[in-house]
Amino acid sequence: MVRVDHLSYNFGEYWALKDVSFSLEKGGFLFLTGHSGAGKTTLLRLLYGAMPMIRGRAKVAGFELSRLRKRHIPELRRRVGVVFQDFKILPNRTVFDNVAMALEVRGMPRQHLERRVRAIVRALGLETKSYTPCRRLSGGEQQRVAIARSMVANPELILADEPTGNLDVELTMHLMEIFKQFNTYGTTIIMATHSREVLECVPEARILHLRDGRAVSPDGDPIDDDEEDEA
Ligand SMILES: Nc1ncnc2c1ncn2[C@@H]1O[C@H](COP(=O)(O)OP(=O)(O)O)[C@@H](O)[C@H]1O
Ligand SMILES: [Mg+2]
Repeated sequence: MVRVDHLSYNFGEYWALKDVSFSLEKGGFLFLTGHSGAGKTTLLRLLYGAMPMIRGRAKVAGFELSRLRKRHIPELRRRVGVVFQDFKILPNRTVFDNVAMALEVRGMPRQHLERRVRAIVRALGLETKSYTPCRRLSGGEQQRVAIARSMVANPELILADEPTGNLDVELTMHLMEIFKQFNTYGTTIIMATHSREVLECVPEARILHLRDGRAVSPDGDPIDDDEEDEA
């Protein structure tokens, strides 16, 4: 589903990713760990086609990113659900509308869409807020809307950047169960996290530990002790 070969990425002088390689089979679950600034977000954004490939190769859901044409990006994105910190929900639209949007862009008929949206909104415990504009939700609730939106279309791959960063432990555990359920049904998941609790939710997952842009083997502890919370 995802294959990354010798991927490097720089912002000016600074190399945020250095020669990263890994692959993840369909239905796999991979955690990206590493301290703040290690390159997790950069890697996820590259995999979504949100930034140009500079050096190395990556293949995602059948798309070779280094040869990706602009017109193929929407097609890639229909197959990938994302939870990104800077990929905000629309504050003046309701929870329902924000989630439904992910299906509308895929051309799903309204009637079919409503059932799917209601089910995922309920699964994420947002049903009492369905018709509330998102600007009136708490940060944690907005984060759940973003997760619902990433999942509603049953994507082949979910890229999630610290999706439970603002949430308490109980809700984190609940959401991890939902991610795991999707994974059980065959959705491939790559999730960046700082949290040991999150890692422990999926003991069978693989771990790619980044340190200053390099993939290092996580023998020992995949959570750096000098971590800082960037949320
Ligand atoms: N737009 C940008 N311009 C310059 N440097 C950036 C930019 N985005 C990220 N960086 C730098 O790249 C490194 C990796 O960042 P990031 O991928 O966000 O790490 P993480 O998600 O692991 O915290 C950091 O040193 C960060 O400061
Ligand atoms: Mg990040």
